[in-house]
Amino acid sequence: MKAIVYHRYGTPDNLEFKEIDKPIPKEDEVLIKVHAVSINDWDDGLLHGDFINRLLNGLRKPKRKILGSDIAGRIEAVGKNVKQFKPGDDVYGDLSGRWGGFAEYVCAKENLLALKPATMSFEEAASIPQAAMLAVQGLIDKGKIKQGQKLLINGAGGGVGTFGIQIAKLYGVEVTGVDNTGKLDMMLSMGFDHVIDYTKEDFTKNGKCYDLILDVKTKRSMFDYARALCRHGVYVTVGGSMGRLFQALFLAPWISMIYKKHIRFVALKPNKDLNYMNELFEAGKIIPVIDGPYRLDEVPEAFRLFGKAEHKGKIVITI
Ligand SMILES: NC(=O)c1ccc[n+]([C@@H]2O[C@H](COP(=O)([O-])OP(=O)(O)OC[C@H]3O[C@@H](n4cnc5c(N)ncnc54)[C@H](OP(=O)(O)O)[C@@H]3O)[C@@H](O)[C@H]2O)c1
Repeated sequence: MKAIVYHRYGTPDNLEFKEIDKPIPKEDEVLIKVHAVSINDWDDGLLHGDFINRLLNGLRKPKRKILGSDIAGRIEAVGKNVKQFKPGDDVYGDLSGRWGGFAEYVCAKENLLALKPATMSFEEAASIPQAAMLAVQGLIDKGKIKQGQKLLINGAGGGVGTFGIQIAKLYGVEVTGVDNTGKLDMMLSMGFDHVIDYTKEDFTKNGKCYDLILDVKTKRSMFDYARALCRHGVYVTVGGSMGRLFQALFLAPWISMIYKKHIRFVALKPNKDLNYMNELFEAGKIIPVIDGPYRLDEVPEAFRLFGKAEHKGKIVITI
């Protein structure tokens, strides 16, 4: 089969388009013919090999040589202990930890997969797992979003933000989105009530307050975020600089005690809410924003685009 393989941590130049052996499913796995796969921030971290990702995938060189977690495809074969799926089923899910999605075939355990609705394209399905789960778990599980609130999404033009705005609007909240100049028109067209260009304005210093902040890129001091929260407001981070996240862990109890404002963290529960996303999609309430699709041999170029953060929504590859 054809696949994108890497043997050394580094830049997208290390990604090779190669012919390799097709994987064989174990007894508790299914073999999927991959039709679409999307790029996540985590893939980019695993490619570059920062310290945390080296702990996960090998200190000196990558153990798992094919990246790609969010896949959609058709089941071609099932192991003898698989109960939920049969050959011919169209499925999608987040295979983080095993990865392998930038390839024509991948094997996965059945608990990582959900059936794809017939009306959802493979490209739409591949865009959903990680970004939409982070948005749902950030806004609903951790943020406890409520009608009438003022919400700000920081880093709103990427994967999490473009699902986040659509989920937030189901709750009747007023939403401000923060991102760079090139993404603001797209964000307004998606329903953001207000947009802020982070290259020109610092939302923590404009005198406004928000009941809920969902942050995709935590980069500031926790005191800055606390200032931008209304009384009893909640700040939820899904990711960002490690230094800032450690600071957040340390300061959260103090900020809660002194300012009555709350800092919460999303630890992704992969695939937990895929059935909820299926319901929203089938009801016409969620439309994934797709950048692409690109071909499998264009994956290195797609990673370059991702690195420059020029994408809008999710970068998707069709196989
Ligand atoms: N909590 C968990 O368990 C978990 C698991 C997986 C992933 N994650 C995290 O989830 C996040 C993935 O989010 P995503 O898929 O939405 O990423 P994405 O598609 O890359 O979008 C992030 C957006 O933030 C913008 N941005 C960058 N710097 C900014 C700043 N200072 N202020 C405002 N916006 C800024 C980027 O734009 P420009 O850079 O173009 O300006 C981009 O549009 C990552 O932080 C990742 O580490 C968390």
